[in-house]
Amino acid sequence: MTVADLPKVELHLHHEGAAPPDLIRQLAFEKKVDLAGIFRPDGSYGFRDFVHFLSVYEAATSVLKTPEDYGRLTTAVLEQSAANNVIYCETFLSPDFCGGGDVSAWREYLHAIREAAEAAEARYGIILRGIVTCVRHFGPEAAKSSALCAAETAGDWITGFGMGGDEGKGHQGDFAYAFDMAREAGLKLTTHAGEFGGPDSVREAINDLNVVRIGHGVRAIEDAALVRELADRQITLEVCPGSNVVLGLYPNIAAHPIQTLRDAGVKVTVSTDDPPFFGTNMRREYEMLEAAFGWQADDFTQLNTTAAHAAFCDEDTRARVLKTLEST
Ligand code: HPA
Ligand code: ZN
Repeated sequence: MTVADLPKVELHLHHEGAAPPDLIRQLAFEKKVDLAGIFRPDGSYGFRDFVHFLSVYEAATSVLKTPEDYGRLTTAVLEQSAANNVIYCETFLSPDFCGGGDVSAWREYLHAIREAAEAAEARYGIILRGIVTCVRHFGPEAAKSSALCAAETAGDWITGFGMGGDEGKGHQGDFAYAFDMAREAGLKLTTHAGEFGGPDSVREAINDLNVVRIGHGVRAIEDAALVRELADRQITLEVCPGSNVVLGLYPNIAAHPIQTLRDAGVKVTVSTDDPPFFGTNMRREYEMLEAAFGWQADDFTQLNTTAAHAAFCDEDTRARVLKTLEST
């Protein structure tokens, strides 16, 4: 068995960001929307930089208009994930895109997504859980609506609350009300930080939002005291190496700080972020890490065990995931 064949746990995946370009093109055709501008001649998504990526992402998402569309998306995403031997996955879902922040519309989208996820679990054995995610550049008021949707649907399937979007806009603390509401509803918390923001953005995430995981967080490496704090507080980083290289944080995987963070005792995990946008998938991530750092099956098993322990699911589900990892 190669490392790419190992069973995998993925904690950081944007639902729309995992949409195969063919599905988005098909939906655009059905709805008579002209999306030609977002694709490269070879059919992949095209963008210049992170802010342009976010606008291409939102254009692609604009053809996902109904709960049924989200059902089709979920089926396509989980087929891809299962083909990469992902056994457990957490996906970021935004009520802003699924019903415009309205709770009853959100419930309909969620129902369609869960139905597709149950069918995929029956077929492939893959387990999916949802993290409701607010979008930073939509601002704190929209985040409160998302948190309300999250609180109303919190349970064994919606297990977390998070924030993505443009890290250049505002501060983590501006969203404290939304994160407090989600925490009080029993949800576990994560936020994007330390990707385009420096170490201070990671500090803000820990101190102002009280998150237990951080999306990316890799730029913590620029501050040794912060690295120690992450290790001491056992905060898990959802690291997406391929995404970081494509978006220009590091010139290549060998220059990525994941190995140094791991050596410093920080809990690191590996995910794809928005796989078709970044020309990646979980197999490729493992192959790149193997090539850059010589990681072997044992290293990847440790990575996946860390991810299973940091997953936002209930304990029965965690035990099932750990058992699958142990038996491989
Ligand atoms: N980063 C931040 N926000 C996002 C992303 C991402 O990769 N994808 C969708 N929203
Ligand atoms: Zn992300």
